[in-house]
Amino acid sequence: MKKSPIGIFDSGIGGLTIAHALKRKLPNENIIYFGDTEHLPYGEKSKTAIQNFSKKITQFLLEKKCKAIIIACNSASSVAYECVKEIAGNTPVFNVIHPVVDKVVKQCSEYNIGVIGTKATIQSNIYEIKIKALCSSAKVSSLATPLLAPMIEEGFINEDISHTIIANYLSNKQLAHIDHLILACTHYPLIHQEIKDYYKGTVNVIDSAKIVVEHIAKQLKKDNLLNDSNQTEYHFYVSNYTESFEKSAQFFFQEDLKLKEVKLWD
Ligand code: DGL
Repeated sequence: MKKSPIGIFDSGIGGLTIAHALKRKLPNENIIYFGDTEHLPYGEKSKTAIQNFSKKITQFLLEKKCKAIIIACNSASSVAYECVKEIAGNTPVFNVIHPVVDKVVKQCSEYNIGVIGTKATIQSNIYEIKIKALCSSAKVSSLATPLLAPMIEEGFINEDISHTIIANYLSNKQLAHIDHLILACTHYPLIHQEIKDYYKGTVNVIDSAKIVVEHIAKQLKKDNLLNDSNQTEYHFYVSNYTESFEKSAQFFFQEDLKLKEVKLWD
């Protein structure tokens, strides 16, 4: 069981930022990654569609004997966590929202917390609901920033065009009085520095990937599920292969990888 892989999925390649952070934190772990590139972007899809995609992918990862499932996508975490847990049975399921909410509530309950993410995540209002359930005095200001994920996927990072789009979103009056900002999309760690630069130290920009993998590592250790052998394997699957995705995937995972196409919907 300890040697079994950890299954990670996202709508596409955004979750590779979580896979990369996990690999650094737990270098002995085997990983199976599934990016549902055929249905990207999840941020624009209905709740039912995202739930159906997530269930199918979870079944695939369970067939691959994964010892834990990570929903490395905020859009899927916000609407499909419960149904993924149901399918997974005794296999632990992690989402990318709860660990961040727990940490933020501990650190900044008396402040105004900003949240940026896809339309699906922001419309679900999950961050505000979860934060306020733990701390009713917290103020939460959310803004959908749908151009950021495709911008990052196209490699527009640290360029004039990305500075302009980021500044346009962050200057929205909805975020005018925030003290902390949650990057509620797994694509956004790649523009963490750019967002930090925009605020020039006036806002604490929260690194969600780090918080999420620290939580997962702690939990797997507690459950005695960590791999003690160091012969690791990584497998990357997508539902629709293109060369350009493979290139972007390397950029997200920050090293060479080979994507394999698997047709779950045929
Ligand atoms: N990585 C996804 C998330 O964290 C965003 C991309 C998409 O819209 O599919 O929400």
